[in-house]
Amino acid sequence: MNPLFISNIYEERRNKLSASFSHGIALFLSNNESPANYPANTYRYRQDSNFLYFFGLSIPNIVGVIDFERNRSLLFGDDYEIDDIIWMGNQPKLMNLAVEIKVDEVRPYKELASFIKNKPVHFTPPYRSENRIELARLLNRSIDELSPSIELIKKIVSLREIKSYEEIVQLEEACEIGVKMHTIVMKYCKPGITERELYGLAEGIALGMGNGTSFPIILSQNGQTLHNHEHNLILEKGRLLVMDAGAENVMNYCSDYTRTLPVSGTFTKQQKEIYEIVYQANIAAIANCKPGIQNIENHKIAVTVLTEGLQKIGLMKGNMEESVALGAHALFMPHGLGHQIGLDVHDMEDLGENFVGYDDTIKRSEIFGWGALRMAKMLIPGHVITVEPGIYFIPHLIDIWKKEKKFEAFINYDKVETYKNFGGIRIEDDVLITKDGHRVLGTHLPKSVVEIESILKP
Ligand code: GLY
Ligand code: MN
Ligand code: MN
Repeated sequence: MNPLFISNIYEERRNKLSASFSHGIALFLSNNESPANYPANTYRYRQDSNFLYFFGLSIPNIVGVIDFERNRSLLFGDDYEIDDIIWMGNQPKLMNLAVEIKVDEVRPYKELASFIKNKPVHFTPPYRSENRIELARLLNRSIDELSPSIELIKKIVSLREIKSYEEIVQLEEACEIGVKMHTIVMKYCKPGITERELYGLAEGIALGMGNGTSFPIILSQNGQTLHNHEHNLILEKGRLLVMDAGAENVMNYCSDYTRTLPVSGTFTKQQKEIYEIVYQANIAAIANCKPGIQNIENHKIAVTVLTEGLQKIGLMKGNMEESVALGAHALFMPHGLGHQIGLDVHDMEDLGENFVGYDDTIKRSEIFGWGALRMAKMLIPGHVITVEPGIYFIPHLIDIWKKEKKFEAFINYDKVETYKNFGGIRIEDDVLITKDGHRVLGTHLPKSVVEIESILKP
């Protein structure tokens, strides 16, 4: 099991949640072991983040209940029997764990269905099929009739999105592991090594220092594919290597960094030109991170820097403001500037992206590119977000847009054609919003052209 914060923290979090509800209960199902290819061969265990936030325990087959009317919290679950202990070793008793997190009561799992019967039950959107089925059984409804509580979702987002001092310490630790993952890849990135070897080195650091990676590592010379999970190529002189990877520390807090490296050790002139544009977009967006700013403004700053840069080298043209507003840049950066990060790498997205990144003051755009922004709303102290602009030359997308003559007033398709083998560049950092501005988390990871080229030197 993972270590715990001091017990008061979980109790305080549950009390803050309870303060918003006068009746009914909130139900938090643990994640259970998930079989990979047969029941006893499971994927790495990962507890549900809402469960972790309110109950801390990283163990399967339990349900946490907050009873708003009686102002009590309960765990429903069963202690392990000797048949399990033979395989697993001795396990702590649920009653002892409940004391550690200041939960009032432990009851056998089989009593849960009758306990919740006829009570208003608030629950978050189940994202695992097993939990959908279990919720339907417990609530005596069909899966299609399950309706998560919007009230609960909104309250959880308002709590989890403000990272406490203790959580920031954990996030910093996850960042340090992430920095080490990237640093080792920078050390070994050379022509002749395979993508898979580098992937293994980075994954090894994440496993050796924490709870593994915060999402499957993206490490590829085909960086034009945004989430490329193939690692089959040998590194070739002249190509770029994109690595987007982060760690989960032992308390399940996450980091998420992207760096793009020239395999040869130095960027070509063309690579340097594009890299500088992405770098400037990253720097400009981070510089503007502060309370009171809507993060969509930071996205706008980044895509404006990209558009300006791409115009300067002749890949784009035309009226800058119109080009940005209409989303012509999305040919090169179809994704958003970033997302919140915390117990999940895309924090709380199980609760619904629009509840996390949008609110009553800002609605998601329907324009391609702009609409991909996950975190648009106003920044406040305690938010932790990623800033991850990129430029990609995606041959399929270029072909489609060119054929449709899309944004011909803003895009020089003839020149874009000559970049079809370029690949992609993304640069990503994790940023805490502070009272006065922001702080980039983690030890500085080489980022500028000079820094990257100097760390890649043999
Ligand atoms: N982990 C993919 C991303 O950077 O959002
Ligand atoms: Mn990333
Ligand atoms: Mn990210």
